[in-house]
Amino acid sequence: MKKVYLETFGCQMNVSDSERVATSLAKNGFEITPVETEADVVLINTCSVREKAEQKLYTRVGEIRNSFEKKPLVGVLGCVAQLEGETLFDKIEGIDAIVGTKAVGRISHIIDRVLDGEDGIVDLGEREKEYDWTVSDPQRHSPFVAFVPIIEGCNKFCTYCIVPFSRGREVSLPASEIIRSILEMRRSGIKEVHLIGQNVNSYRPTTDSGLEGFHGKTPFSRLLRAVAATGVERVKFNTSFPRDFRSDIVDAINEHENLCNWVHLPVQSGSDRILRSMKRGHTVESYRRKIDYIRASPRDISITTDIIVGFPGETDADFDETMRLAEYAGYDQAYIFKYSPRPGTPAFDMADDVAPEVKTRRFRELETVQRRTQNRRLERYIGRVLDVLVERPATRHSEQVSGHSPCHKVVNFAGPREMIGQIVKVRISEIRSNSLFGTLDRTA
Ligand code: SAH
Ligand code: SF4
Ligand code: F3S
Repeated sequence: MKKVYLETFGCQMNVSDSERVATSLAKNGFEITPVETEADVVLINTCSVREKAEQKLYTRVGEIRNSFEKKPLVGVLGCVAQLEGETLFDKIEGIDAIVGTKAVGRISHIIDRVLDGEDGIVDLGEREKEYDWTVSDPQRHSPFVAFVPIIEGCNKFCTYCIVPFSRGREVSLPASEIIRSILEMRRSGIKEVHLIGQNVNSYRPTTDSGLEGFHGKTPFSRLLRAVAATGVERVKFNTSFPRDFRSDIVDAINEHENLCNWVHLPVQSGSDRILRSMKRGHTVESYRRKIDYIRASPRDISITTDIIVGFPGETDADFDETMRLAEYAGYDQAYIFKYSPRPGTPAFDMADDVAPEVKTRRFRELETVQRRTQNRRLERYIGRVLDVLVERPATRHSEQVSGHSPCHKVVNFAGPREMIGQIVKVRISEIRSNSLFGTLDRTA
């Protein structure tokens, strides 16, 4: 049996694609190995969103070629593969196949061809429409948490972003299929599903969904309600696109306890001038109103975000507005990025005029403010009891286990490994950098 090692960079769409690749390979007689040096084939699922992410591919291929005793065949998957196509053969030595984001469904056939000695395989073709999770033993990143893609691609074309080019146009998957697979997952022991997509709330299926009323104004909130009705214990969803984020999504969360109290709503900037130049489609004011509505929910919804610093033309004044908006929103977590010009995007033609040291300074300032906010947000959990889905042994302490709350906080506590897969009550006693710590609460 040939062994395949699969390495994944990038967002949850890539994680989800890798799961499908692993499932398809396992079904077709390959063994997925966790030991990279034993592999006959190494597949690297790549990300192109920032230059650093793309650079990882180059570093990894170099390492595999130079330090592995057994020289595996190397396949490049994902966003870099889709964008670069066969030019990658010239850019990096030692690649045997290039498989774009649209071709992952054909992976085992491609690997067969590579193993038969065929050279220079490039497949960037059409993405197959069907998601087939009906196989008896799907390979997942967790036995209890499942990623369910509901919409693929992106039509938004934010001026800095490569994703619309690497993932193509938005395609929503049929609601009936989504519901069917979630019911199946629930039967097989999945406790938490994450509805995923670049912009889940732009969900708009074109074909008959099998459910009434899906052509209304905001099909996503209806999908949320339908998923809640499957009875799966927890439903999370990300990412939400601010322009398409309407109050009915919050209303659905308010009404269904299994819809988790967490919204990821990337703001990118707090300056209207920069937001316009980014073509985000929201203003500071419209975004604030959405934050206000979320904060007014009795569910105590946590809000996380993405922010870019140093976008072309960003002045100190623009950056100050970002700081102010971050403070106003009081994010539970913010992923901060320095602007990275991506060839082929509209912003690539704008002057990347914020000096690297200024980007670094703004990054640090925002990070400092955000850390303070985050601590404040975490502190309010002290003394509270949270429902924790226990997912794995804690990384640093063998007697501890780790999981997530519905509001998507990492929670660690002392407990036996037998608890993995259960939802238990944990009383929070401490905050630790990015996570919460507590003790099992047997009284609740
Ligand atoms: N679909 C999501 C996020 C996609 S990419 C959304 O619309 O928000 C994840 C994050 O990477 C983005 O939110 C953005 O903050 C960041 N990002 C994307 N392109 C970038 C670039 N060229 N430079 C720096 N950060 C970038
Ligand atoms: Fe990129 Fe914007 Fe699409 Fe998000 S919405 S993936 S940032 S183009
Ligand atoms: Fe990266 Fe592609 Fe996701 S560029 S962020 S892996 S869609």
